Amino acid sequence: MHTGMTHAAFPDLRLRRTRRTAWSRAMVRETQLTPANLIWPLFVCQGDGVEEPIASLPGVSRWSVDLLVARARDAVDAGIPCLALFPYTQPDRRSEDGAEALNSDNLMCRATAAIKDALGDAIGVLTDVALDPYTSHGQDGLIDAAGYVLNDETVEVLVGQALNQARAGADIIAPSDMMDGRIGAIREALEVEGFGHVQIMSYAAKYASAFYGPFRDAVGSRGLLKGDKMTYQMDPANVEEALREVEQDLAEGADSVMVKPGLPYLDVVRAVKDAFAVPVYAYQVSGEYAMIEAAAAAGAGDRDALVLETLLAFRRAGASGILSYHALHAARLLTA
Ligand code: PBG
Repeated sequence: MHTGMTHAAFPDLRLRRTRRTAWSRAMVRETQLTPANLIWPLFVCQGDGVEEPIASLPGVSRWSVDLLVARARDAVDAGIPCLALFPYTQPDRRSEDGAEALNSDNLMCRATAAIKDALGDAIGVLTDVALDPYTSHGQDGLIDAAGYVLNDETVEVLVGQALNQARAGADIIAPSDMMDGRIGAIREALEVEGFGHVQIMSYAAKYASAFYGPFRDAVGSRGLLKGDKMTYQMDPANVEEALREVEQDLAEGADSVMVKPGLPYLDVVRAVKDAFAVPVYAYQVSGEYAMIEAAAAAGAGDRDALVLETLLAFRRAGASGILSYHALHAARLLTA
């Protein structure tokens, strides 16, 4: 630790010495970023040979299952260890209770099975547990007459959704709904049904954020959502509460935890890492991606440099990995 006693003073101490050349900078670099630190979120849609660009996420598309498998191959080739899947559910399959989440032939299950069939353990598949891509109201759970999201009733459905995904071959179940008690309920059901090996990455500290807009376009829930998600997602003002969320999810059987959004919440990533010493992931969310793309398009900075610097910042803050829509591009930059 820095004591003030053991260090030389200027000019014996010149901190610029080690920065003088690239080889020296590489020797003293404290943080590494590799493709193994990246998780690539992908959106899946109906059809065959279909690519649907998402206007608010320039450079990101929804892919039909066949093309999604091709993207999974791209990820393997770039050294990315894991994909995160999200569905665009057809409007006629959305309902008040989100029942499509339990359909064993839904887009998520077909996409998961297709990737696992094609690539086996060459790549992990992380599946999102929450009802917002399936509900006609865009909330992550079941609602009462007043529109309040019901906790325990929702957890029951989430358990069914998680099992549905595990049966399709999901490697990591990632509940993003923020209901209380869902990690324990899902963990128990996985164990009982013979999926004791399936990991849970809990979106433990997920904030009610203004940065999710383009994602809601991507899954088609933006126009449906009335109101906000503040009765279940966290207040951006809180960090002690984030530690309690993480503690609870770990106690209930989560293998790893996530902080979301990313860059504006690096203090939370660091606090969680220091408090629990478990794998912590961060989600550089859709609005953050869009901000970088807009900055680059406006000439405010070099896109590749912005991408790599922000991803490195997550690692410096203590994240084991980052979910990022820039993952494929970044992985290719890192191995070029
Ligand atoms: C919902 C979910 C959201 C994201 C991931 N899962 C949006 C929300 O909570 O409204 C956002 C991801 C992003 O913005 O990239 N279960």
